[in-house]
Amino acid sequence: SSAPSLYSFPDAQSLAQSLRSYVLGCQNTAVTRHDVFRVAVSGGSLPSVLAKALLAPGTGSQEDTPRFDKWDIFFADERAVPLDHEDSNYRLLKDELLDKIPADQGTPRVHPIDAEHANDDDPQELADLYQEELMRSFAAKDSVKLPVFDLILLGCGPDGHTCSLFPGHELLREKDAWVACLSDSPKPPPKRITLTLPVVTHALNIAFVATGAGKQTIMKQIFDAEEGRELPSALINHHAGDKVSWFADHPAVNGVAFP
Ligand code: 6PG
Repeated sequence: SSAPSLYSFPDAQSLAQSLRSYVLGCQNTAVTRHDVFRVAVSGGSLPSVLAKALLAPGTGSQEDTPRFDKWDIFFADERAVPLDHEDSNYRLLKDELLDKIPADQGTPRVHPIDAEHANDDDPQELADLYQEELMRSFAAKDSVKLPVFDLILLGCGPDGHTCSLFPGHELLREKDAWVACLSDSPKPPPKRITLTLPVVTHALNIAFVATGAGKQTIMKQIFDAEEGRELPSALINHHAGDKVSWFADHPAVNGVAFP
C-alpha cells in the first residue's frame, strides 16, 4: 500500500483546524453512505486535541458542522478500571469532549469498555464483552470478517505503541480476535483492552495525532523504512498507508524524511 500522509503544523491551533476538517469530512462521507459515523478514539493527549478541534466555532456551513447525533463512539483502547477512575480513557473523553458538546449538536451514542461488567481478574472477559458490543453494531462476526470503522483516531507513544499494541508484544500477531486484552502493558496501568491490528488496518480512515518534541525520535524511526519496521505505528503505515493521515506539529517532525 502507498505511503501515509504526514501533515505538520506550527501550532496547536492550526493542527486542530485541519483535524476538524478531516474528521468532519469523514463524518459527512459516512453519514451520506450509511447514515451513521462509527469512530474509535484513543486516550492520552488525543481527547483534548479532538475537543479543541470539534468544539471550536466553525464556519457555520453544513459540511463544517459536527452532527453528533450520527456518531457512534467506540474506544480504540481502554484500561481495565471503572469508568470514573482517573486512568479511564472513557472518563478522559467525557471530561474533555462529551460533557462539553452543545445541546444543538446532538448527543453521540457512546460505547464504553466498562470494567464493572467483568470479573476483576479476567480482562479477557472484558475483551469478549466488547467484541460482542462491536458485533451488535457492525453485524455478526460470522457474517463479516472484520468491523469497518469509518475512522480510528490514534495517538503514538514514544516507544512507537499505538492503541495498547506495544512493540514486540505477542498481540501484534493476533489475526482473528477483534478485541484483545493484555495484563503486561509496559505503560501503566498493566491491564488493558485494545482493538487488534487487523481491525485498525481495516478502518476506512486512520488518523494519528503526534505532538511535541518528545515524539521527535520515534517519529524519525516510524518514517524510516528500516528502523521502523517492527513498530506498531509503522505496521499500520505499512499495511494501510493509503488510508493513514498523521497530524503532527513541527517539533515532532523535526528531522523526519517526509514520505
Ligand atoms: C492509552 C492511550 C495510548 C496513547 C499513546 C499516546 O490508553 O494509553 O490510548 O495508546 O494514545 O500512549 O499518548 P499521548 O497522546 O499522550 O502521547
